Amino acid sequence: MSDILRVEANAIRELNLITDSETLEAFRLRYFSKKGLIAEWMAKIPTLAPEERRQYGASVNQVKIKLESLFEEQKKSIESKPASPKFFDETLPCPEPPVGSLHPIRETIREIADIFSRLGFSTVDGPEIETEFYNFSALNIPLDHASRDSFDTFYTKQGQLLRSQTSTVQVRVMQKQKPPLRILAPGRVYRPDTVDASHSFMFHQIEGLMVDDRTTFSDLKGILHLVLRELFGKDIKIRFRPHFFPFTEPSVEVDLRWGNRGWLEILGAGMVNPKVFEAAGYDPAACQGFAFGMGVERIAMLRHGIQDIRYFYENDLRFLKQF
Ligand code: PHE
Repeated sequence: MSDILRVEANAIRELNLITDSETLEAFRLRYFSKKGLIAEWMAKIPTLAPEERRQYGASVNQVKIKLESLFEEQKKSIESKPASPKFFDETLPCPEPPVGSLHPIRETIREIADIFSRLGFSTVDGPEIETEFYNFSALNIPLDHASRDSFDTFYTKQGQLLRSQTSTVQVRVMQKQKPPLRILAPGRVYRPDTVDASHSFMFHQIEGLMVDDRTTFSDLKGILHLVLRELFGKDIKIRFRPHFFPFTEPSVEVDLRWGNRGWLEILGAGMVNPKVFEAAGYDPAACQGFAFGMGVERIAMLRHGIQDIRYFYENDLRFLKQF
């Protein structure tokens, strides 16, 4: 019994000192909740001898009523008071807000787009969820081509797919615009590659397309050479290696000489295949042009000496703050 009275006195003292609602809530839990002190006292009542029960029960009840009403009072007074003002001196100068920087992928895309913009190329956008038409058929990739296999592309249940190359944008643009045309289409592409230091199921490409009535292969060579010199320095060595792409003819892959690592492939290119012009509704006899597609990660890795493609996607500030 004296125990109860002692606890009551303590509780009242404690309650009077409380000035914020978090502490008040902690107090409520400790005393009034189902596992609180008062519930514990109440639970004892049935275990007592009948003579003791009555008096004990009555005092528990008294204490309970008293604490509850004091608690309510304290609660009202806390709620009616404005939150205690934290010291704030509005005359002090602001701390410098932290300023972020461009992600190295974004920075590389901007840099490349900037160089091409000086040559009259404007940047356009295309969807990442595509149809088989834009990703394959319009690009002269036949139905039985291995890259159409479901293991080589991500398909949705509705039969759409995540584009596996930015070349999709070629026909999309040509359907909307008549030549002459100079566009750049940067963006994400998807391939079910197993992730390792140089592969990712998602990466970025920049597509380029230039069409008019007389764009030639030497325009292609000259423009790409100029851009790569701007990107990697005047002394770079590049080579054009014959290759095959269904949507260009002739086609090349362009390699960059990289110190003791030898030749590194950095882009694919070629003269637009007449079949692609047809798919886009252009007259293949009246126009001529080139297209190319470059991997942004590869270029960013070379320029910044980044060893692992996964760094780009991990959002690790230790990496990102270096740019
Ligand atoms: N789309 C090709 C690829 O992903 C690159 C390319 C684009 C080649 C345009 C030629 C012309 O590998």
